[in-house]
Amino acid sequence: MADLFEPDVELRWRGKDTKVKTVSLPFQTVEHIDLWDVQASEEQQAVFEQMRQADPRWEGWTNRLIWGDNKNVMASLLDEFEGQIDLIYIDPPFATGANFTAKVEVGEAGDKAEKAASIIEQKTYNDTWGRGRASYLQMMYERLALMYRLLSATGSLYVHLDYRMDSYIRVVMDELFGKEESFLNEIIWAYKTRETSTRNWNRKHDTILMYVKQADYTFNADALRGAYPEEYLARFKHEDEIGKYVIRGKGGEGSPFPGQGDLTPEQEKKYPEWTYRQYLDDAGRLPRDWWEIDILNSNAAERVGFRTQKPEVLLERIIRASSNPGDLVADFFCGSGTTLTVAEKLGRRWIGSDLGKFAIHITRKRLMEVAASKDMEGKGQEYGKPPHPFVIQNLSEYKTYQFADTEEENREKYFEFILELYRAEPEPGHDLLHGKKGRHYVHIGELDSEMTIENVRRAVAELKALGADKLDVLAWEFAMNMDLDIETLQQAEDVDVKLIRIPREALQVKDPRKENIHFYEMPRLDVAVERRDGQVVLRIIDFNVYNLEDFSEDVIEILESYSDLIDYWAVDYDYDGQHFVSRWQTYRTRKDRSLELEFAGEESQVCGNQMVVKVVDIFGNDTNKLVEV
Ligand SMILES: C[S@@+](CC[C@H](N)C(=O)[O-])C[C@H]1O[C@@H](n2cnc3c(N)ncnc32)[C@H](O)[C@@H]1O
Repeated sequence: MADLFEPDVELRWRGKDTKVKTVSLPFQTVEHIDLWDVQASEEQQAVFEQMRQADPRWEGWTNRLIWGDNKNVMASLLDEFEGQIDLIYIDPPFATGANFTAKVEVGEAGDKAEKAASIIEQKTYNDTWGRGRASYLQMMYERLALMYRLLSATGSLYVHLDYRMDSYIRVVMDELFGKEESFLNEIIWAYKTRETSTRNWNRKHDTILMYVKQADYTFNADALRGAYPEEYLARFKHEDEIGKYVIRGKGGEGSPFPGQGDLTPEQEKKYPEWTYRQYLDDAGRLPRDWWEIDILNSNAAERVGFRTQKPEVLLERIIRASSNPGDLVADFFCGSGTTLTVAEKLGRRWIGSDLGKFAIHITRKRLMEVAASKDMEGKGQEYGKPPHPFVIQNLSEYKTYQFADTEEENREKYFEFILELYRAEPEPGHDLLHGKKGRHYVHIGELDSEMTIENVRRAVAELKALGADKLDVLAWEFAMNMDLDIETLQQAEDVDVKLIRIPREALQVKDPRKENIHFYEMPRLDVAVERRDGQVVLRIIDFNVYNLEDFSEDVIEILESYSDLIDYWAVDYDYDGQHFVSRWQTYRTRKDRSLELEFAGEESQVCGNQMVVKVVDIFGNDTNKLVEV
């Protein structure tokens, strides 16, 4: 934001607040995925090594996929990345709750089930798009302001919109960037879909706004040159030692051919002072600001089951034009990870985030399978390389600060309401212990954020100060790896902590005294360990999801076995007690829906170690189990 800038035009909306309140929270790494070291060929390793030596930005770098609200994610990245990101592309959702539902595939047959929005997604939707333009603009203002700060001096920001909000966001961005020259392009992405409207012109394009910070920005026009159309080439009829050309007339007083093209050699000979040769630029046609690119049809090979997934070729143009290999590319509304996948294939470093666990999971799998996806260079070929190592992270501090501006009274009512549903009694006078059910104290998570281990730790400290040792933690959503962290905490503090999910239907309840709603513990994973021919074999024998609220009736009918719910599982056979490193993994793909249920490791490699099994269900939720051998 240009500090001294006094905008001559400004957009106003109800509740506009230009002071963006931010907090920086620590990141927690929940999974480290390194297929590069295991799968890259010697030749690929050597090429990467050369690249690393030539470009120090790769040294010690790990790509990052972060689960969380991007406002908090970006604010927490500022310390490390202020002015460091070379290209940001975002495709924020607008106006449809459908952005948060998805079709997921179940089990071996791949039957389709509808995934409902999580409470956090639902709340975000209700607070922004669901409330109309003013709240949407405030939400976007805050996020664009953070992106502006993260963007490098030579960087560009691309914002993908449609006819509903493009003009509003453009004025907001003018205000944030502060200079007229910062606005470079309004790109029109035109596509074909069925024309069904007889009441207006059928809407067949999206708009992508492109902004830069300063005049010295990265733009590789040459990388995007394309072929000329036949009819254009046909005009270059003549050729000399320089190349193909057309003869054109010069303007000016007395010119016999003002502005005319396609003159004859005879005319050129007769009027040399009024003609010139316009040569064909052999390098190809320069890129323009309207693109015809097909949308992804439902059977496209690159489809990963995400409704709003964008075509890779669209991102390819943007990334090639506005970044160079080794540059840092980010997408803070990453969805199915199109930007990150293309950045990976084009040798850029990347950071992505999304609010949905499902989106994060889809992206994780998409990146893990990047070798089999289409190459960006040789058309029709496979990319053929594993992804560079990446981590999956979430923000680990609990967001109590958010309630600084909500009414204390409403909060109390919310806790009372949940306690009543859970059939527990209020326990006034404590900070984080909200109630008591029998001998168990109860701690309740807030409505708009996930429960994290830090928060439970604080509640446990309060519990122990009272000389008690049993705690029920009720929450709408738990941070990733929660169960694993809880196991360690229970051992260290000698307490009994239960993680219990507040069912979604609680939100619909009018009178909690009259309703009987079931609360369920987190899913349970059973793993059998066996020694066989010098190997240690882990087998998943049960995966018990008590809470089937994510499932519609028809899905529950489809389910044949516990394993139908498992989409991905991974083993860290050398767990260090803190960081889960995915050393072996297996998952269902669109082409191959089968899933192994056994992992076998050499005794010499795994014995004496702690092992952790991580299962991710078809909705993207993870469940972990610590295994001792
Ligand atoms: C239109 S989709 C992006 C699709 C993506 N371009 C692709 O190709 O798959 C928008 C995404 O923004 C995410 N989202 C919405 N609000 C968010 C927020 N506050 N923080 C992070 N992600 C958010 C949604 O979960 C959704 O996955």
